[in-house]
Amino acid sequence: MQTRTLGTTGPTVSALGLGAMGMSGAYGAADRAESIATVHAALDTGVTLIDTGDFYAMGHNELLLAEALRGRDRDSYRLSVKFGQLRGPGREFSGQDGRPEAVKNFLAYSLTRLGTDHIDIYRPARLDPAVPIEETVGAIKEMIEAGYVRNLGLSEVDAETIRRAHAVQPVADLQIEYSLLSRAVEADVLPTLRELGIGLTAYGVLSRGLISGHWSAGRTAGPGDGRGFSPRFSTGNVEHNLALVEALRMVADAKGCTVAQLAIAWVAAQGEDIVPLVGARTRERLAEALPAMELNLTAEDLADIENAVPPGAARGDRYPSAFMAGLGVGN
Ligand SMILES: NC(=O)c1ccc[n+]([C@@H]2O[C@H](COP(=O)([O-])OP(=O)(O)OC[C@H]3O[C@@H](n4cnc5c(N)ncnc54)[C@H](OP(=O)(O)O)[C@@H]3O)[C@@H](O)[C@H]2O)c1
Repeated sequence: MQTRTLGTTGPTVSALGLGAMGMSGAYGAADRAESIATVHAALDTGVTLIDTGDFYAMGHNELLLAEALRGRDRDSYRLSVKFGQLRGPGREFSGQDGRPEAVKNFLAYSLTRLGTDHIDIYRPARLDPAVPIEETVGAIKEMIEAGYVRNLGLSEVDAETIRRAHAVQPVADLQIEYSLLSRAVEADVLPTLRELGIGLTAYGVLSRGLISGHWSAGRTAGPGDGRGFSPRFSTGNVEHNLALVEALRMVADAKGCTVAQLAIAWVAAQGEDIVPLVGARTRERLAEALPAMELNLTAEDLADIENAVPPGAARGDRYPSAFMAGLGVGN
């Protein structure tokens, strides 16, 4: 497994990271034993970056990872943890809390659930509009100084917020959606990251499975599967978006790889400062994703891919409208 370094101050991690969100029901029911086997398979093949959030099924995801990581050398992997999203007992999302006292509270619970004495990259999942970013990341800086956190990360914020946070404490990486279907990051955010020496961990590189080659117009999201609320998967949009996948499939066939591998490799090819996260929740999906990092895309391949899926080609927002307002950039 190749490695990449997150920004000028962040850790060196595997060039492909594993996102664990789907192991806690974000895409419908997940099999616990298979999820744990998937984490083990990832670690055994050299994946060293694992991403979670304390709000992924209200702590369930952290407890699952604690079980999967038990007995592993703590220095052999890096944990990226998001915090701050508030939820209710009906699983509904009800805002973001970035107050310094809340940061420390969230951190104390995460450390306990994860069974660790430190988190490698700690990041607010979204900006709390009621709290200046300097205060939120100032609390993380304190926790870095106290040894509970190793690096500051950010998630889904705009270029100005990145600059403000970085002035308080160097930011290792920004986590943000980046894929062939979601390229808003390229306008202001990516140049700002590069100017400041901050890495990017890209999520949604398969657009939640939409551009994986495994989705079809006839496939419906089951109970609890967030894709059932996604504009890009909705009737009227999904047919258009799947036509883009078919165009991509022709490029993949010519290259001798799968659509998912091509989509992941395209993100990885956008810069050595970018680490794609894949949301595999089964060993089968993981085994498909990993070889993407061995694909060598030529300038001609990249042009063919972008001809198949030009910027802005996707139909539908990347989040339901209620969630779009909390993002630093659009689609
Ligand atoms: N910072 C943020 O705001 C934020 C937001 C969302 C996610 N994240 C993080 O990023 C991670 C990845 O994001 P994501 O899960 O939304 O995006 P993704 O990797 O684009 O989508 C994952 C889904 O794609 C499908 N898939 C099909 N083929 C696959 C393959 N070969 N490998 C992997 N998945 C395949 C799987 O669904 P099926 O199993 O149904 O086929 C899987 O659940 C999350 O786990 C989470 O840690 C961060």
